[in-house]
Amino acid sequence: MICLMRTMPEKMIPRFQWWGLAMFVAVFVATQDAPQAREPDGRRHQVAQGTVDTTGKTGAEIFAQSCAACHGLDGKGKEAGELGFDVPTPDFTDCQFSPREAVADWVAVAHEGGPVRGFSQRMPAFGGAYSEADLYKVVAHVKGFCSAPEWPRGELNLPRALYTEKAYPEDEWVMTTAFGRTPASVSSSFVYEKRFGARNQVEIKLPLKTTRNNGAWTGGAGDLAVGFKRVLSHDLDRGDIFSLSGELVLPTGDSAAGLSKDTTVFESFVTYGRLLPSDSFLQFQGGVELPFDTAKAGREAFWRATLGRTFTQNGPFGRAWSPMVEVLAARELESGAAIDWDIVPQVQVTLNTRQHVRFNVGWRTPLNNRRGRSSSLVAYVLWDWFDGGLRDGW
Ligand code: HEC
Repeated sequence: MICLMRTMPEKMIPRFQWWGLAMFVAVFVATQDAPQAREPDGRRHQVAQGTVDTTGKTGAEIFAQSCAACHGLDGKGKEAGELGFDVPTPDFTDCQFSPREAVADWVAVAHEGGPVRGFSQRMPAFGGAYSEADLYKVVAHVKGFCSAPEWPRGELNLPRALYTEKAYPEDEWVMTTAFGRTPASVSSSFVYEKRFGARNQVEIKLPLKTTRNNGAWTGGAGDLAVGFKRVLSHDLDRGDIFSLSGELVLPTGDSAAGLSKDTTVFESFVTYGRLLPSDSFLQFQGGVELPFDTAKAGREAFWRATLGRTFTQNGPFGRAWSPMVEVLAARELESGAAIDWDIVPQVQVTLNTRQHVRFNVGWRTPLNNRRGRSSSLVAYVLWDWFDGGLRDGW
């Protein structure tokens, strides 16, 4: 009985969190379209469905007629010198680059011109000349320049949640900060991710924490983690991506400040991302933390799930807002241990027109076992450095 009570949400959880969650679910349900067969090109593809008046030309014909002069008939791009202006065109045959850009983003560029994604105005707008359906056809042709199936498509690169890790391999910097209340604390983590090859990614993570005790702030660095991720399967038609990760957390942190586990910890987890109808998505992460010295730290299992939906401002090509709700669970791997549940409603927003700098803010609240676990405000800034410098594309 006592055991059961420990795992139940406590009565004293402030009501506004429940209101927040209920409102989120209500908005989510109310804005769902009737379920329909998902278009193979995934996220935001339905933009094209309303526009059926096409020129009757194939994507290849439109490309030859309107794009090849600058992009080359073979899609390899041209140097600035060949074009008569100072902006080179990208190499669409480069699989490092081409598959990771979502079709809808390229349609946005072709429809509105380069500046809609923070590119040069040398890339003209074709929205007046072609319907969106035609532009989807020509972008499908452009996608064909790298048709190697091992490269996961950009549509499967779902908005990053605050805690649930992504299945998609990334080139990113992420700085996450959590502000705790009792005791007052500020914890940050700096994550650097680098993709290599079609399916792999390495990651380095450094946490820092300061806590206020008796009026004085003390803190330092936590344990440095080095991780590796590999995509095991991905399929845009099926709409999902699945990866496996391994991480070593090294005892480099400040032990005196209580910021190190004082033993190396091996962490392994799977991540799964799934496209749902109407620009919604689901992400899941589940795994274990296995310390080398179990006298110093306990073995733990954890799982995290995120449900969200992306909305765009000013029509389909504008700023993207992705409200999400995340549920976190963790328990020590010993018999009778209780599961700690947390909920994290949050909103991610693109900050610049290139959409490669993003901000996410949320509120993490324990749902049970609240003793010693307080709520915190959590936010990150994310920079997808592959898509351009931090100051590019605003
Ligand atoms: C007058 C020359 C010109 C024509 C014609 C042209 N483009 Fe471009 N395009 C550019 C330039 C220049 C860039 C690079 C802009 C930059 O890097 O700031 C570009 C960039 C792009 C990109 C962005 C790729 C990325 O980096 O994510 C896409 C997509 C694209 N063009 C598609 C098309 C399509 C489709 C057509 C034909 C319907 C077309 N372009 C016709 C000059 C042109």
